[in-house]
Amino acid sequence: MPPQPRKHIPSIVAYPPGKPIEEVEREYGLESVIKLASNENPLGPSPLAVRAMRDAAKEMHLYPDGNGYYLKQALSRKHKIPVESIVLANGSDEISDMLAVAYLDPWDNMVFSEHDFISYRLAAQMMGVQFREVPLKEWRCDVEGLLRAIDDHTRIVCVANPSNPIGTMVKREELEWFLKKVPDRVVILLDEAYFEYVTARDYPNGLRYLKDHPNLVVTRTFSKAYGLAGLRIGYGIADPEIVFNLDRVRPPFNTSRMAQKAAEAALKDDEHIRRSVQTNREGRKVLESAFRAMGLDYVAGVTNFVLVDTARSGAEVTESLLRQGVIVRPMGGYGLPRHIRITIGRPGENRRLIASLRKTLKEVQPPS
Ligand SMILES: Cc1ncc(COP(=O)(O)O)c(C=O)c1O
Repeated sequence: MPPQPRKHIPSIVAYPPGKPIEEVEREYGLESVIKLASNENPLGPSPLAVRAMRDAAKEMHLYPDGNGYYLKQALSRKHKIPVESIVLANGSDEISDMLAVAYLDPWDNMVFSEHDFISYRLAAQMMGVQFREVPLKEWRCDVEGLLRAIDDHTRIVCVANPSNPIGTMVKREELEWFLKKVPDRVVILLDEAYFEYVTARDYPNGLRYLKDHPNLVVTRTFSKAYGLAGLRIGYGIADPEIVFNLDRVRPPFNTSRMAQKAAEAALKDDEHIRRSVQTNREGRKVLESAFRAMGLDYVAGVTNFVLVDTARSGAEVTESLLRQGVIVRPMGGYGLPRHIRITIGRPGENRRLIASLRKTLKEVQPPS
């Protein structure tokens, strides 16, 4: 008999990533494929980050600084938080894994919203603990429901703000109410991967609550507005006690030298973030108005993507778009078989998506 994994492992469905452009070009014999599937920044990285990577390339024979001294210093200055409150991660999704390893005993459970970012469920499954998925309320995280789902065995509760793949947010007063109510022994993972994109006035900055809530862990990433998804670099900010425990389970060189250098440089380029947010805001208007014209329902979100109800099989719609060289994400794996998630692109990419989707809606009929 071959070696067997731990007994919970076979029930895990491995994370299905968005199809890479190269794979679609190969499989479908296409050129100039566009990818609007993984909520990446269509403007790419800041030129400052690109220069930093070029310079860092000459040092690739050297291990990274396992403690990420300079990047942590830069983050500390930017957010006005102590260096001891920062843990660097190989993409912010690594933080949910580290929290799970550091904090979950087999009898514990995790609580999060249904249809929420898949990493939370994967972390629970990896540890073989129970998890509870709380239904959304009108496509928004139901913080009261989350609180009701927390019991004596709950160790981690996750809130993606804003959420992915839904794209909606928890408002300031809802978050403040929730943070006060969650018992101190429960770690609150507040995932702010799309923080920079959100312009709503009642959107809360999780960092403001760290002082009063030593059980809070805020995560941020360089993968979205900073345009560095390929490098895998993100971070968590929390009470030094939590950071200390995460460092105990963190792989020693989890962030690369190239990633640390690029992230540090990217932090200096506020103008790139401003342009990225503006491109996104304009793109959202264009896409939403096109979806309305096509008679498609969508969720009015605050992120760099739009969740669209195609009123037909999302998988078939995705396939038809792929044949036209446009990669989007079907949402069946998130329990939303009619929905697709479309990342907001550059103006030309948005126009191409709209034209292709119009064609697709004629080709793929709703079920009769
Ligand atoms: C809500 C949310 N959190 C975390 C992540 C992971 O980001 P990273 O690339 O930093 O691991 C994503 C990426 O899609 C996300 O949507």
